[in-house]
Amino acid sequence: MKNRLETIQGDITKLNVDAIINAANTTLLGGGGVDGAIHRAAGSELLAECKTIDGCPTGEARITKGYNLSAKYVIHTVGPIWREGKNNEEELLRDCYWNSLILAGENNIGTIAFPNISTGVYHFPKKLAAEIAIRTVREFLKNNDKMEKVIFCCFDEENFSIYYSSIG
Ligand code: APR
Repeated sequence: MKNRLETIQGDITKLNVDAIINAANTTLLGGGGVDGAIHRAAGSELLAECKTIDGCPTGEARITKGYNLSAKYVIHTVGPIWREGKNNEEELLRDCYWNSLILAGENNIGTIAFPNISTGVYHFPKKLAAEIAIRTVREFLKNNDKMEKVIFCCFDEENFSIYYSSIG
C-alpha cells in the first residue's frame, strides 16, 4: 500500500499520470483555482467537451479527455462548500474521492492524481479534508489492486505538510 500512495507538492497540470482530478463546480464550465489551471493547460477543447455534459452534482464525478495535458483523462468532481460541517460536507467530500476512483477503475486508469478538493475557494478545513481523502483512498486501494498509484498533488505548503505527516 505504502508505495501506491504518494504525496507531492506541485502543479497537477504538469503531472504525467493517466488521469488528473479537477476540483470543479456543478456547471463544469471552468472557474478559478485548479479548475482554471486545468482548463488553461488542456485548452479550449476541454471546455467544448464539458459543454456536452449536463453539469455534475456535488459529490459525483464525470470523465473527459485531457487534450493538451499529458494526462489522458480529466475526472471532474465537485466538492462540497464548507458550511460549518452542518450540510453533510464530510460525506460529500468522501463521495468525491470514492466516485472519482470508481470512475477511474471503470476506465482502466492505473495512475491518478488528486488536488486537495474543496480546500481552496470552498474553504473545507484542510486537516479534516486530508483525513477524509487519505482514509477513502486507502479503503479503495485495499480492494482494487488494478489501481497502481494515487498521488495527492498539494499546491500549498500547508496542505503538503498535512499530507506528508500522514503519509510520509
Ligand atoms: N495544481 C494543484 N493544486 C492546485 C492548483 C494546481 N495548479 N491550483 C490550485 N490548487 C489547489 C488549491 O491550492 C487548493 O488547495 O487546489 C485546491 C482546491 O482549491 P480550489 O481550486 O479553489 O477548489 P475548491 O476549493 O474545490 O473550490 C472549487 O473553485 O475554481 C473554482 O470552479 C471552481 O467553483 C469551483 C471552486
